[in-house]
Amino acid sequence: MAPTADEVNAVSRHETGRHLPVLPEEVLTWLDPKPGGRYCDVTVGMGGHARLVLERSSPDGKLVGMDRDPSALEVARALLEPFGDRVTLVHTRFSQVREVLDRLGMVPIDGFLVDLGVSSPQLDRPERGFSFRPENDGPLDMRMDPTAGETAADLIARVDEEELAQVIRDYGEERHAARVAHAIVEALRMGPVDTTGKLAALVARALPRHERGKNPATRTFQALRIAVNQELDELEKFLAVATDCLRPGGRLCVIAFHSLEDRIVKRRLRTLAGRDGGGPARLRILTKHVVVPHNDERVRNPRSRSARLRAAERL
Ligand SMILES: C[S@@+](CC[C@H](N)C(=O)[O-])C[C@H]1O[C@@H](n2cnc3c(N)ncnc32)[C@H](O)[C@@H]1O
Repeated sequence: MAPTADEVNAVSRHETGRHLPVLPEEVLTWLDPKPGGRYCDVTVGMGGHARLVLERSSPDGKLVGMDRDPSALEVARALLEPFGDRVTLVHTRFSQVREVLDRLGMVPIDGFLVDLGVSSPQLDRPERGFSFRPENDGPLDMRMDPTAGETAADLIARVDEEELAQVIRDYGEERHAARVAHAIVEALRMGPVDTTGKLAALVARALPRHERGKNPATRTFQALRIAVNQELDELEKFLAVATDCLRPGGRLCVIAFHSLEDRIVKRRLRTLAGRDGGGPARLRILTKHVVVPHNDERVRNPRSRSARLRAAERL
């Protein structure tokens, strides 16, 4: 059942401008939350989708929200407070989903939601170090969880030129990865590359030509972000265990934002559906074609433009 306009507008009113959850109607359609159901939003972020799921599963549906970013959880906690003990929030990486749900006694679950990528506050706050925009200059950090692991500045200082080129090529799909890596390594000889502004400027200088309408550092920043947060590995690990946590008829909805993620989701769902020599089918793919935002959402919420949703159901 599609959400009412009121349900969707309620979120729009609360979340200003860029903080709208993407594909809100489609998430409710494909996840199909119901009263009494148990749901897990593994990328709860600011809680926009989670709230829709809780409203739709009223009065007694439960939701576990996970995020690796403690500041996202704080925002979600405030937003979801009216739902009381129907909500449990956990600071964790979603590769740990099985252990966490087992510990909470929440297996089997009725539905998983995954909304990949970075959140608007992560991108917009200069101190998080994700943004290549000159006005957002900050430390070159890029960790979704600032309490753990290596920053992007640490990473580029640690790896050699060849490894750096491979990261930028594989995760950024940057044709000029070797040039960019060379420029970074040369710059490091002169001093640290430890701010987003320094990195963005040196990537712009290293590229022979710039694509129209696209910041030249886009691909390099995407690559480093994926590497720092081990994003593809996290996704693979999650998809490897998610099916086991679902009850028969339980659903999995994944929203990806770039082709590397979407390719992993598409392949893994096909394998789990018994295609491509994947053994006996454990899932049924529900979205025959990938679901993308309608035009009005693209206009209202520019972040939604590259969103691609796929959904499947446990057999
Ligand atoms: C696009 S935002 C989610 C927004 C959310 N759906 C909402 O409506 O507010 C993605 C969130 O996923 C989190 N995240 C990304 N990878 C993660 C991982 N491997 N484990 C846990 N959280 C992750 C990020 O920290 C970020 O807060």
